[in-house]
Amino acid sequence: MYPIDLKGRNAVIFGVANHRSIAWAIAQALQGAGARLAIAYQNQRLKEGIVRLVQDWPDPLLVECDVAQDGNIARAFAEVKERLGTLAIAVHSIAYASREDLAGNFYDTSREGFLTALEISAFSFIPIARHAAELMPEGGCILTLTFNASQQVYPGYNVMGTAKAALEHEVRQLAAELGPKGVRVNALSPGPLDTLAARGIHGFVDLKHLHAERAPLRRNITHEEVGKAALFLLSDLSSGITGAILPVDGGYSIMGV
Ligand SMILES: NC(=O)c1ccc[n+]([C@@H]2O[C@H](COP(=O)([O-])OP(=O)(O)OC[C@H]3O[C@@H](n4cnc5c(N)ncnc54)[C@H](O)[C@@H]3O)[C@@H](O)[C@H]2O)c1
Repeated sequence: MYPIDLKGRNAVIFGVANHRSIAWAIAQALQGAGARLAIAYQNQRLKEGIVRLVQDWPDPLLVECDVAQDGNIARAFAEVKERLGTLAIAVHSIAYASREDLAGNFYDTSREGFLTALEISAFSFIPIARHAAELMPEGGCILTLTFNASQQVYPGYNVMGTAKAALEHEVRQLAAELGPKGVRVNALSPGPLDTLAARGIHGFVDLKHLHAERAPLRRNITHEEVGKAALFLLSDLSSGITGAILPVDGGYSIMGV
């Protein structure tokens, strides 16, 4: 299905919750290209659904990891190392903010809400990139998922915009530090897609309609399009690219009005 050959390459993907997850679209693209995958999921509650998703895969590795604890991340990577040895690819597709912080006024954001959103959605990328890079002796590719609310105001997105701005800075900082080791760090910035996380954003349905109306391509993007762009950034096709934030938004972000 995909003209990119990732046979012999190992990948770990954080953030599969269900079949609508962007991480799942990326996992399918990588699996289609022949990569061997480890799927890291947040908690036991999600496990049964993920086992069903991967039931046709040969010998899938499932790892539980709530990124709220450093020890969990270290344990997850120890398991990946034990089972897969080295890594060529790591994907961070994780975000969380409490529901009350994704509606109302941004100026009402609580200290606790701010810290939680930044910790789970932005900080977690740092230890994941560090542990992943340690398992990439021959270099590799690390990818995270951001959103244009890092740059422009999307009412309702609130503190998650702050978290995405921090995350995008991390992409550049990590790309600069890991580049000499042959590890590339990039982000995709998709337009709105129906997922569990998106459902928590106040006004998401209107936002999606607006995107389809105003984007140069006059439609919303698809999960598969994000999977294909991920495959590009996680393969040798993008070997000269690091520290980049690539929009997959039908061109929406170029429009002034
Ligand atoms: N859906 C969109 O419209 C859209 C657009 C641009 C960017 N994104 C980004 O894509 C990424 C994936 O989100 P999605 O839309 O696929 O939704 P999703 O709900 O399917 O994925 C979010 C994931 O984060 C995980 N997560 C949350 N807290 C965690 C924790 N403490 N430990 C471990 N995992 C945790 C969830 O389990 C889930 O798998 C997020 O960073 C999101 O901001 C989404």
